[in-house]
Order: sequence, then structure tokens, then C-alpha cells
Amino acid sequence: MKKILITGGAGFIGSHVVRRFVTKYPEYHIYNLDALTYAGNLENIKDIENSENYTFVKGDIVDEAFINELFSIHHFDGVLHLAAESHVDRSIEDPLAFVKTNVIGTMNLLNAAKNQWKDNFEGKRFYHISTDEVYGSLGAEGLFTETTPYDPNSPYSASKASSDHFVRAYGETYGLPYVLTNCSNNYGSYHFPEKLIPLFINNIIHNKPLPVYGDGHYTRDWLFVEDHAIAIDLVFHEGKNHETYNIGGFNEWKNIDLVQLLCQLMDQKLDRAAGTSQQLITYVKDRPGHDLRYAIDATKINRELGWKPSVTFEEGLERTINWYLANEEWLKNVTSGAYKDYYKKQYS
Ligand code: NAD
Ligand code: TYD
Repeated sequence: MKKILITGGAGFIGSHVVRRFVTKYPEYHIYNLDALTYAGNLENIKDIENSENYTFVKGDIVDEAFINELFSIHHFDGVLHLAAESHVDRSIEDPLAFVKTNVIGTMNLLNAAKNQWKDNFEGKRFYHISTDEVYGSLGAEGLFTETTPYDPNSPYSASKASSDHFVRAYGETYGLPYVLTNCSNNYGSYHFPEKLIPLFINNIIHNKPLPVYGDGHYTRDWLFVEDHAIAIDLVFHEGKNHETYNIGGFNEWKNIDLVQLLCQLMDQKLDRAAGTSQQLITYVKDRPGHDLRYAIDATKINRELGWKPSVTFEEGLERTINWYLANEEWLKNVTSGAYKDYYKKQYS
């Protein structure tokens, strides 16, 4: 049985990846390593926690001795690395936390994998999950391709860019078999309500202001998280070693247009008069260093691996809103911090 380590599997994207791998691949044993920071929540994966091919490990990737010991005990065959500090606004407040987890943490995993696998890389794979934000900001035209030069602007994207460079360097220098993907903004269930879409859904439910940064004319390319999990599965199994693939939704939205659409849909779902939620829109001070536009050219992964988004934005957004409305308890727990008790109940 192959042993696969997934890091960050109690977070937003990681929980979808863990669920997919545990349910689709009974021939793998999945180890989910997560430090359960504010963004990690075992409620995100409680539906699979009793699966026979699944083990949760609480631990910090920044702890080098712990990571080395974990690898020496389990001899992993593959690593899917998603654990990260992931929120741009937090990176502006505390950049060092991002260097620790995103750079040092990635280095610890790379070293442990290299040392464990060095005598035989056959059948081994290190998959680093990264972001399109490493490419910096686009103007009104153009798309990010796999050869767009790195030009990160926020401490978050600088830390992810640094980790990407180390992954590539370990491939070149030590022959570590890696694949790397750079993905656009995800949305969907289990998304922590500090990011635009879940924050605004939560605020609309509670009639709280919707803080639009600057003039709202910033553009993001939105991808349904379950489509991202499908792409990750495909790249892990069929991607070529030492290759990068961009993953995006071909789905650009200006923030203000997206927020207007969300307000409209939420009014319908909540049986509120048309225009009610729109009144909550509040323009606030802009984010420093705010990237104007991200948009991915995902033709390489389409051409080489046959992946394309399976869900339209209308469908994905509707499913997302329905999920949050059906899971208000989850929202309440994460906004109150109560979800931390779940770990204590299950594991201590
Ligand atoms: P998230 O913040 O929801 O989850 C991150 C997870 O990592 C949490 O469960 C947290 O507890 C864990 N973690 C954080 N620090 C850790 C540490 N030191 N040791 C062990 N675990 C730790 O993040 P996400 O949105 O699911 O993003 C997952 C990955 O995908 C990240 O690498 C991120 O850079 C990348 N990514 C995210 C997006 C997006 O739109 N969310 C887009 C492109 C790429
Ligand atoms: P976010 O979800 O934080 O993702 P990222 O910064 O990684 O793209 O933000 C998406 C866009 O929404 C970004 O342009 C910043 C903007 N934004 C707001 O206008 N208000 C908010 O409260 C948040 C969280 C984001």
C-alpha cells in the first residue's frame, strides 16, 4: 500500500483533496498532516475521519526534527504539500509567519523527502501546490502562462514564490521528482470566512457591511475548489516530473461585479427584497500593494492532461451559497473559534 502525505488537509483546499484521495484511492494510506492553525478545522473532513486508509497527524511543518521523524517512521511514497499561511491581508500584518510556514516549512519537507528518497527516486513524487500570485499583477490585457516571470508583490506571494524556487532547485540540484501547480483564486465549501466570497456570504447573512477594498475594480479568476481537487489528482498521477502547470477557471470577475452578483443571489435565497444586500456594500481603504488583475492561461494542463473546469461559475456559486446556508452551524463555529474544541473532543 502506498503511503501518501497530504499537508494542510484540514484547510479549505486540502480538505477537498484529502476527501477525494481517501474515497477514490483505497489502495493508498493517506496521512493528513496539519498544525490546526486558525485556518485548520477537523470538522472540514469529519465525514472521512474514520476511514481505514486515513490517519490524521497534528504537527507543524516548521518543526524540522518532527518532520524528519515522521518521514523516518512512515517512509512516504508521495507528498502533496498544501499547508501554508494563505491570506494576503494577514501576510501584510505578520510577514515572518509566512516565511516560517511557507518557506522554512516547505524546506523541511523537501529535505525530509530528499533524504528519504535519495537512493531511489523511482515511483516517488513531491507535489507542491502554489498560487498564480507569484507572477505578480497583470494590466488590462494578457494571461499568466507557465513561463511568465515571477514578480510577487505581497509578503504572501513572495513567500510562495520562494518556496516554488526551492522546489525547482531541489529538482535541478538533487534530482527530486517534483510537480508544481500555480492556481487562481478558489471558491467553494469549507472556505474560511476571511476571504472575499465566504466573508461576504457570512456578512450578508448577518446584515453586516461588505468591505470592498479601493474602488472594487480589481480582477480575479475564480475556480471552483472541487475542480481544483480534480486537477490536483490528475497532476499528481499523470503530470510530468519537473513540470509546472497553471490551473485557472477561465472566469475573470471584477470584485465589484462579483459582489453585486453575490448580493443579488443572496437576496433571492434569503427571500429579501431585491437590492437589500447591495446596500451593505461599503468602500474601504485599499489593501497596500493590491494586485490589479490575475488571470490564468490554463491551456497547458488542458492540452497535456485533458483537464478543464467542469462547473460553470453560475453553478459553482449557487452550490457554494447553498452550502453556506445549509451549514450555518459550521460558519458559526469558525467565526466563534468553537471549532477548535472538535480536535480536543476527537483526539485528546
Ligand atoms: P487554508 O489557509 O484554508 O489552509 C491551510 C492549512 O494549512 C490549514 O489547515 C492550516 O492549519 C495548515 N497549516 C498552516 N500552517 C501550518 C504549519 N506550519 N504546519 C502544518 N500545517 C499548517 O489554505 P487553502 O486556501 O486551503 O490553500 C491551500 C494551498 O493552496 C496553499 O498552499 C495556498 O498557497 C494554495 N493556494 C490557495 C488558493 C486559494 O484560492 N485559496 C489559490 C491558489 C493556491
Ligand atoms: P482574497 O479573497 O483575500 O484573495 P486574494 O487577495 O488572494 O486574491 O481577495 C480577493 C479580492 O477581493 C482581492 O482583490 C481583495 C478583495 N477583497 C475585498 O475587496 N474586500 C475584502 O474584505 C477581502 C477579504 C478581499
